[in-house]
Amino acid sequence: MKFYIDTADIGEIREANRRGWVDGVTTNPSLVAKTGKPHHEVIKEICREVSGLVSAEVLSTESEAMFQEGLELAKLADNVVVKIPMIEEGLITVKKLTAEHIKTNVTLVFSPIQALMAAKAGATIVSPFVGRIDDTGANGMSLVSQIIQIYDNYDLTTQVLVASVRHPIHVLESALLGAHIATMPYSVMKGLTRHPLTDKGLAQFLKDAQKMSQ
Ligand code: G3P
Repeated sequence: MKFYIDTADIGEIREANRRGWVDGVTTNPSLVAKTGKPHHEVIKEICREVSGLVSAEVLSTESEAMFQEGLELAKLADNVVVKIPMIEEGLITVKKLTAEHIKTNVTLVFSPIQALMAAKAGATIVSPFVGRIDDTGANGMSLVSQIIQIYDNYDLTTQVLVASVRHPIHVLESALLGAHIATMPYSVMKGLTRHPLTDKGLAQFLKDAQKMSQ
């Protein structure tokens, strides 16, 4: 299972990458806006830092404009994946970019049928937003499970990227379901290494070690 970091903050990406945790990066317009830097500059800097795929989202909503934006984003680096919103015009764009051998990530997916439509359009990656579904009182992970089942039924090769991950349980459930990728904020990533019994056990070992004869 691949771990992507869900941020446009180059400092966080570097820190996580140095620890060997970054298989790729996902950004969105909200995350890039937080950096205060121009979109293309941010994406180029991230692509230089990591060797894995970096999702960069288009800002248009009409297919020809999205296609042109996608072509520009893909020119920034070899590891760019063009992130396209899950709307009708978006799927037309996915089909066109796929014909140009440009990778796509269909984002803002909230139903299994949307994920099927994205795969049929040729999406490289599909991004169900589990945390935002949980926020509505429904179960985000059951969406992931249904998408994986549908893709398995028809041998669809689109990769399932679990997005809007809020805590380690989302990561655990993604792994148990066999999702290809989970993208998460650095704060969640850091939490994955921790267990209170590890800290307690280590403290005890170090305390006992002081009693050893040298
Ligand atoms: O990048 C898309 C997604 O992961 C956003 O997550 O926490 O804003 O719902 P969140």
